Order: sequence, then C-alpha cells, then structure tokens
Amino acid sequence: MSKAILPLEIQQLSDQLDLHNYRYHVLDEPSIPDAHYDKLFKQLQAWEQANPELVSPQSPTQRVGAKPINGFSQITHEMPMLSLDNVFNGEELTDYSQRIKERLGLSDEQSIEYACEPKLDGIAVSLLYENGLLIRGATRGDGTTGEDITHNVRTIASIPLKLRGSGYPDKLEVRGEIYMLKAGFVAMNEQAAKIGDKLFVNPRNAAAGSIRQLDPKITARRPLEMCCYSVGVVEGGEIPDEHIATLELLQSWGLKINPHLSKAQNIGDKISYIDTMQKLRDQLPYEIDGLVFKVNNYHLQQRLGFISRAPRWAIAYKFPAQEALTEVENVEFQVGRTGAITPVARLKPVFVGGVTVSNATLHNMDEIQRLGLQVKDTVVVHRAGDVIPKVVRVILEQRPADAYAVEFPTQCPVCQAEIVRIAGEVVSRCSGGLACAAQRKEALVHYVSKKALDIDGLGEKLIDTLVSKEMVAKFDDIYHLSKSNLMRLERMGDKSVDKLLQTIERTKQTSLARFIYALGIREVGEATARNLAREFGYLDRVMTASVERLEQVSDVGPIVAKHLASFFSQAQNLAVIDSLRTAGVNWPEAEPIAEAELSLANKVYVLTGTLEQMGRAEAKAHLQELGAKVAGSVSKKTDCVVAGTAAGSKLTKAQDLGVEILTEVEFIAFLKAHNVVLDL
Ligand code: IVH
Repeated sequence: MSKAILPLEIQQLSDQLDLHNYRYHVLDEPSIPDAHYDKLFKQLQAWEQANPELVSPQSPTQRVGAKPINGFSQITHEMPMLSLDNVFNGEELTDYSQRIKERLGLSDEQSIEYACEPKLDGIAVSLLYENGLLIRGATRGDGTTGEDITHNVRTIASIPLKLRGSGYPDKLEVRGEIYMLKAGFVAMNEQAAKIGDKLFVNPRNAAAGSIRQLDPKITARRPLEMCCYSVGVVEGGEIPDEHIATLELLQSWGLKINPHLSKAQNIGDKISYIDTMQKLRDQLPYEIDGLVFKVNNYHLQQRLGFISRAPRWAIAYKFPAQEALTEVENVEFQVGRTGAITPVARLKPVFVGGVTVSNATLHNMDEIQRLGLQVKDTVVVHRAGDVIPKVVRVILEQRPADAYAVEFPTQCPVCQAEIVRIAGEVVSRCSGGLACAAQRKEALVHYVSKKALDIDGLGEKLIDTLVSKEMVAKFDDIYHLSKSNLMRLERMGDKSVDKLLQTIERTKQTSLARFIYALGIREVGEATARNLAREFGYLDRVMTASVERLEQVSDVGPIVAKHLASFFSQAQNLAVIDSLRTAGVNWPEAEPIAEAELSLANKVYVLTGTLEQMGRAEAKAHLQELGAKVAGSVSKKTDCVVAGTAAGSKLTKAQDLGVEILTEVEFIAFLKAHNVVLDL
C-alpha cells in the first residue's frame, strides 16, 4: 500500500486529533474541551470529502468506515492465547507464591517481583500491528483459533489505528481485554427496555455481543474500551525484559493499559493490593472479577513455563461472584420507621458476594412489576460490597407451573391499619403512625442510634423485647424504665442494667442537632438537622418557622420544609417533645452565629486519603458546620488539605503549592479546639 502524501496542515490536523484521542481515551487526561475536538474533526472530514483519493485508512475519521461483513473468518493464533489458573483466598495465594519460589530454587529470604493487575471482566482479544499500523483484530476463541473482528476493533477509540512514537517492533501482537463500561451498559439496557428489545445480562455479555456484530456501525455505538495486558508475537524489534516496563512502553505507543497496575515484592504486598482493589471494586467504571498476579521478569516466566493451557508464572485471584441464581420462597412486607411498606423476597439461601443471602429487598410494588416477579420464580440475586442484596432479574424460562403473583396488602401486616399510597409517590405507607408497633419500634431504634441520642446498650433486640412487653411505647418511656423492671428481662444482669441506666441518664444532655435528628422527621438526616440547629439556635424557633423560612436553610428544599412544618403542626408530636423535655432531655441553646462570623467562613478545605477515625462525610459535615467550603481538588484557592493515610496526588499537589496540610490527628485536635462535638 503506497502512503498518500498529505498537505502539511492536514497531516498536522490529523496528528492533533490522534493526540487528543490518546490523551482522552488512553491517558484519561483530556486537554481540550470536547467541542473543540469536534470542530477539528469536522475540519478534517470536510477536507477529506473534497479529496477522497487522499484519505488514509488510519485517519481518525475512518474508524467506522467499513461496510458490514457477511460472516466472520477464522484466525489461527500464531502463539496460543492461554487462560489462567485460579486461587480464591489469601492462603491459596501464599501457597502458590511458595510453589513458584521452590520451583525456581529460591530461598525464603529471596523475593520475586510480581506485577499486580485487575482481572477485567470482558473478552480477550489480540491486536496485530505491522510497521505500526493496526492490521487485524481477533477474538481469543478457543485459544488456538479465533474470529476476525478487525472491522469492529477499529471503532473502539482506545485502540490506536496506528502506533505513536517510534521504536516499536515491525510486527507486534498486543493482547488485552475489551469490556463495556458499567454506566454505558445500564444506559444501553434502559434504552433497549424502552423499545422492547432484549436486555443484556451483564456488561461482559454485552461486550461479547457488541464485538461480534457484523455491522461495525452497531459496535461503534457501544461504550467499549480495551486495556492491554500482554504481548504475543514480537518480530523485528525488542521489548524490555519485564512485564510492567513492557506495558508502560505499550502505553507510550498509544495503547491503553490499566491505571491500577502495581508491583509486589512479597505476599504482604499482594494482600494489601487485594485489600485496596476490593475496596475500589464497586467504584471502578468497569467490572472486574478478580486480580491477576504475574511474575514480572520474562526470563523467570520462561523458566517457569506452562502447565496445559495456563502459564505457571501467573495466577488469577478470583473475587466471590456477585451474582447467583436462587428461588423466591415467599414475598413478605416490612414496615419501616415512617410506615413505608417494603416488599422483601425470602430466598432459598444462596452464597453470593462472599456471604449466604436469604433475603433481598424488592423496594416497592413498582419494582416487583418491573421485574415481573412471582413467588417461586428463579431469580438472579446481586450482592456487591456491603450493599443490601437485590433481585436483579427473573429467569422466566424457569418459572414453575405453581408460581403465583405477589399481592400487595391493603392493611398493615403489623397493626392492620389501612395502607395508603399518596398520589405521585412510589412508596405505600401504613397509616397507623406511632400506634403501629412496627413504626414505634423503628422510631425508637432511630431515637437511640449513634447519630441521634446515642444510647449505647439499647440495641434493636432489647427494643424489640421492650416494645413487645409494652414496657416502652413512646420515646419518653425510655426515661421511666426502672431497674427492677429491667432486671426481670432475660439476659439482663445487675451490672448491665446499671450501665444502661447510667447511659440513659448521661445522654439526656445532648445537642439540638442530635435531638432534631432523633425525632425521625421524614427526610431530615443528620446534615439537615445540623444545619437547622446552626441556623435557628433554639428548638422553639425551628418549631414555629414558616415553610418559606425553613426553605432558606441550606440543604432544605420545599419537600423537606413541608415535612418539617407538618411534623411540628401535629399535636401528638408536640406532646412527644414536651414529655422528653419534662423527662430531662436537654441541650444548650444560643443565638445562632451569622455565617460570615463562623470561624472557617470563606475557607476552602480539601479532604484526601483515608481518615481512620471518622468517615469522609462526617469530616465534611464538621468543616461545613464551621463555615468552610469543601472542594474536590487542590488548587491555588485551597486553604488547607486534610490528608489521611494513603493520600496520593492531592497531597503531592498541596505540598507543591505550599498549602497548609493537617494530618488526621491534627484535624481532630483542630475540631475539638473549635468546640465541634465528635462521635469518635
Ligand atoms: S493474562 C497467559 N491479565 O482472564 C496470560 N488476563 O482466565 C493470560 N483477563 O482469557 C491472560 N484481565 O480474558 C490476563 N490483567 C489480565 C486480565 C486477564 C482479564 C482474562 C483474559 C483471559 C482470562 C483468563
């Protein structure tokens, strides 16, 4: 193929577009606005339309050029594409590392460097570059033979049509994973549901389906990316003798590599990589199903060789699957603190996401309808991290003949009061209010919780007992519990009763913010309660404020303002507050401090790294309480950075800019010095 000679400015325009593509899709560091990119792209397109004979196949405009193909042709891989052996826990990983050491004849003191990588949940592909030009893309297939998907890989923006820079081998086969972004997958399925199309089961299936399209225009519309994780055939050139260095070189040639690569010198490093990645897993924009550890040095890799279809020099550390199939045995209805009726699926116990799950939330009736779920259906249950397990799909093909539809109750399953659904709301509620034992119990659990009155020792179980024995019905009943009554309960000894009564007494002295939060007003969370307390200073002022006045409080919108006003207009709620005050619950009240007079007014803070003693949200709320703004990135405008452990680039930037830096210990001391009440 003879290379077309382009006018200099067109070549420059094309190079510029390639550079921006690389910065955006490979480095994740875009340097120009999207609109500017589009403008340059259109300029090149216009010129090419006028000069069709000079269009290069590698031009950034030529990604979706190809016509649909009639069928896939087979490609035989010159070097087989292998798979990986698995381990499932730290112990198995330690044993694996030990075996490798022994095989290489190393002593316990000698260490082997490993490359650590996420195991991307997509499909394996091979890209072939000759003289820097992408000439072929193929699926892994059975490892020996795959399918030619060149027309489709060309549409993926993170795959360069020509390599950047110089020094690449004449013939270079790059291998990696094509995967679909989670957000794109959700959007695609939502769109498919709207037009009644078949839904994809998960991002991996969606990626596989997208890459096996005959028409590249369809693939081009799918949110696919590719990360490279190894090289295959290399001819007419050299690559480094280490894996990570090779990947970095691939990146400099324009190929995308995963940003979470790391090196491990020993098992401890591997375990901490596992910890870090497990925490990150749910936040990653793509799915990973584990991690891969590879001996970093190619000479050692060669000495280790292969067993059947997997290399000895690499191992996959598999995460527990986040999805599993099980059966819905029943659907029951729970009553929450605000009376919300939540359908819960009782499941045949199933191991998913590392634990045994026997219940999953179904949220509300609309969700049951959306899922089309019936009792006795087989369903897919999803559990990620600490999130409540969720039913994500019904397997209709497996519906038994005796499956039956879920009927929404008309009466509360606990107090038999009528269930009402306010027009425009998705949630149905029990109308029993605090006359409903379930609502009463949940309200009490909330009242004593850590962020409310913080009555440690009054747990959910004990409240259950107290409510069912009718020893406690209203909040203030807590303050009239006697030692003799408590002693009669099972598992309540002299010491624990004394301790509980002391805690109840001590926590009567509280703060206005905690008290407002404890009341359990709908939609009034901790932060809102804190803002109300700060702006009004006195409970009576909050109670008598108009909806308009309430709406001026930061965080309070029209709905929350309405809930507040309505709560304080009900006689029974005023009676509750009264009885609590009479029982001795108290808090300091004072004239509110004007915003401008707050000690951190106009100051910009940035939080980075992990705070060990308090959550990010809490730290942010405390700073806001003192009047500071909390920003997401460090700039010249930043006044102070609070740096927890494992702080990264934000800390470095703060150091470069000479911004004040506080450690977590210093930050806590600082908050205490400003009279902030801490929950540590
Ligand atoms: S290395 C010989 N690295 O996992 C080495 N594979 O179970 C073979 N995969 O077919 C691959 N992320 O599709 C490697 N960082 C990674 C990977 C990865 C995902 C997939 C790949 C392979 C399968 C093996």
